Amino acid sequence: MDADWWRQAVVYQIYPRSFADANGDGIGDLAGIISRIGYLEQLGVDAVWLSPFYPSALADGGYDVDDYRDVDPRIGTLEQFDALVAALHEAGIWLIVDIVPNHSSNRHRWFQEALASAPGSPARDRYIFRDGLGAGGSRPPSDWTSQFGGPAWTRVPDGQWYFHTFTVEQPELNWDNPEVRAEFLDTLRFWADRGVDGFRVDVAARLAKKFPEPMPSQAELSRIPSGPDSPVYDRDEVQSIYAEWRRVFNEYDPPRMAVAEVWVNSPERRARYARPESLGQAFNFDLLKADFDAEQFRRIVTSNLDQVKLSESSSTWVLSNHDVVRHATRYGLRPDGGRPGGRGDRWVNDGAPASQIDRGLGLRRARAATLVELALPGSAYLYQGEELGLGEVTGIPDEQRQDPKFWRTRDDERPSVGRDGCRVPLPWTRSGPSFGFGPDDSAAGPHLPQPDWFADCSVEAESGDPSSTLGMYRRALELRREMQGGETLEWDDGLSVGDVLAFSRPGGWLCVANFGDDPVPLPSGRVLVSSAPLIRPGTDGPARIPGACTVWLSIDAGR
Ligand code: BGC
Repeated sequence: MDADWWRQAVVYQIYPRSFADANGDGIGDLAGIISRIGYLEQLGVDAVWLSPFYPSALADGGYDVDDYRDVDPRIGTLEQFDALVAALHEAGIWLIVDIVPNHSSNRHRWFQEALASAPGSPARDRYIFRDGLGAGGSRPPSDWTSQFGGPAWTRVPDGQWYFHTFTVEQPELNWDNPEVRAEFLDTLRFWADRGVDGFRVDVAARLAKKFPEPMPSQAELSRIPSGPDSPVYDRDEVQSIYAEWRRVFNEYDPPRMAVAEVWVNSPERRARYARPESLGQAFNFDLLKADFDAEQFRRIVTSNLDQVKLSESSSTWVLSNHDVVRHATRYGLRPDGGRPGGRGDRWVNDGAPASQIDRGLGLRRARAATLVELALPGSAYLYQGEELGLGEVTGIPDEQRQDPKFWRTRDDERPSVGRDGCRVPLPWTRSGPSFGFGPDDSAAGPHLPQPDWFADCSVEAESGDPSSTLGMYRRALELRREMQGGETLEWDDGLSVGDVLAFSRPGGWLCVANFGDDPVPLPSGRVLVSSAPLIRPGTDGPARIPGACTVWLSIDAGR
């Protein structure tokens, strides 16, 4: 089997609780995914990345894991998991699962044991417990804050404090503890033995920690760059963990792949996770953070393709995932809406009131950006629903919100709108109480409310229409499969002028993207796919590419 299958794979992320609900309890499940494998096949993806499906109280959308070797009973059973692996493989689709090693949930048997054990006990040593400061240790060991708002330390009844970067329900594991290391190696084997082909490693850069005494303040901590000197992020020792993981991955044929979720800016540091002796691939979120802008896209593509030389891996490209505002909405934020023109990571986790969103423009640009992404060498990670052109669901009533980030940042100066808006259950049919997400006679409605406009973005509405977003994705993935060659790209400097970005791939495949508002001439060649209708000449003149549109052309080798 091809050990390098992942290098240029199109990977489709499934957030299982929102994909398809077979049993009608309002929550997506494994049986639902199995029932939609034909859809994935027709879409033409190479692999599925399954976000956490483990037992969880859902304090953080499943990233609070109660048991790393089981399936949440609301989602299915281990037998169904095995059936899913078999059915995906039968369809020629690889399976990557999410692994969450930085923290367990507070309901995990280890944390329960730690709570029931004395300070200083081996059970406490699996987590990060410390005594507090001041009289009776009543102040936390430091003033550090959690990424989801509020303090990063929580006190337990006997007076000690435990550390959590995320919610209170996500106590952080101590990776200096050999038992923790051994347990995860066994967990990786557990899933690899069941036929899982790879792992997406959650918060991969955070596992190794070293807290100096005295602890720096939050203000001081924020000034320490990530890397060897940081107490918490991207320390060198984290690589020794992944070297052990790699040995496990290489016990299998083909070796299991892994992709690191790292938000490290330095190319050299990011490359460490993508090295063959480490996890093998690392996410690059640069495109996801960029504006819809030719110059930014070119800079990012160039630098990321350079960076892979440091790691021998392939590049990764991401425009949307379960943590950020969907790209069809990000690109539609009105620059006059009090937002910084859609710039940077300040708002990728943020949102905007519906009045600030131009949905038509956002979708046009999203389709154009997607065709650029899919023409690039490396692997493309797609997020469920983007192939339907789904935008963010805004205006979810507070009482239906689930994301802890929404609740825990409410008093902040810039509260987050949370991540529920990109996690709303998918619309499969034009009508019905849950647009086909669950059976029409379901006892429960979808676990997050779907807006009326989902009807027009449903699989049913788009399926028969080649000009729909779904039609475009299907065609592009089909072409990509046929045309994907070497992992190189050549900029066409003659065409890449102003708002236009053009590059060719081996085999005479040219991608031309017009990021501007005004039409530009269509270069010669056979049009393979276009993200928007081209402007055809009337009586004379050449055809043109409209604003916010990308075209793929087949060109003569000698052009
Ligand atoms: C996941 C998030 C999650 C966090 C904590 C992330 O990077 O993608 O969804 O909230 O890790 O596990």
